[in-house]
Amino acid sequence: MTLRDGHELFIEGLNNFLEQAEIDFIYKSILKNGLNLDPIQLSIKPFTKLNFSEEIFIKESLLKIIAHEPLQYVVGIAHFRDIILKVDKRVLIPRTETEELVNWVLDDFETLDKQLKLIDMGTGSGCIGIALAKAQPFFSVYALDRDNDILELTLENAKLNRVQIKCVKKDMTLIKDFNFKVNVIVSNPPYVMINEKKQMKPNVLLYEPHKAIFVSDADPLLFYRMILEFASKNLKPKGYIYFEINPLLVKQLKELIATFSYTVLERLDIFGKPRMLRLKKK
Ligand SMILES: C[S@@+](CC[C@H](N)C(=O)[O-])C[C@H]1O[C@@H](n2cnc3c(N)ncnc32)[C@H](O)[C@@H]1O
Repeated sequence: MTLRDGHELFIEGLNNFLEQAEIDFIYKSILKNGLNLDPIQLSIKPFTKLNFSEEIFIKESLLKIIAHEPLQYVVGIAHFRDIILKVDKRVLIPRTETEELVNWVLDDFETLDKQLKLIDMGTGSGCIGIALAKAQPFFSVYALDRDNDILELTLENAKLNRVQIKCVKKDMTLIKDFNFKVNVIVSNPPYVMINEKKQMKPNVLLYEPHKAIFVSDADPLLFYRMILEFASKNLKPKGYIYFEINPLLVKQLKELIATFSYTVLERLDIFGKPRMLRLKKK
């Protein structure tokens, strides 16, 4: 099989449900991120022969894409701001909305000149904590999640990006009495209600970890409430909390936050939806 044969196989397999530009993007990403081949070769040396294992990888990738597996899981890599992260089914694929949350934190702490302790709660791939540690070395970053197998990947990603972060294995629903003083809390916790499932795409529902995404319809703010209670005891004076939020829950969440002592600022995401809150300790 040549590079061009592989491309034709992708066009044949996907052209009933994807645009040509999207198929080209996927195929080139599989060459680059999955096989470490330069996709420009497809144009300049289309008859380059693929070896046996490359050919198998291409064929298997096509079947996975047809079965709705997200491209990032197929190639094992996701891009987030200026960093690359390994991803697999243990962790959520980082979203662009979350890049905006990180940008907000970095803008606020651009002139930081002394060490501050920051915790990324529900770190998953580590995208938030690692991107922050990389861009602002004055942050001393702690990354919290519930399982060691998730945190193994977080640490792997920290190493890959040459930053030092410390992992904390804790269940966020049990952090009320956790004694861990911090200056900044950043969190993109699970916030999608079960009743939203019917509007979601199969690539998310079939492959991404449900424990990273969903909360019960009966108590959708569980994680925010736990983090706020944790913060009541642990957030230092002049501390900040940055939350990624569900636009459908913004009113309820603001009511919950009003029972604590914070000045709240809201930001919209690139799609114009309320997606982020910044809480400044009064
Ligand atoms: C929406 S994902 C966010 C992942 C990553 N921070 C990001 O922005 O892409 C929520 C994360 O919370 C973690 N999580 C879910 N339930 C948890 C719990 N009870 N305790 C600690 N972490 C939990 C999941 O494993 C997942 O990594």
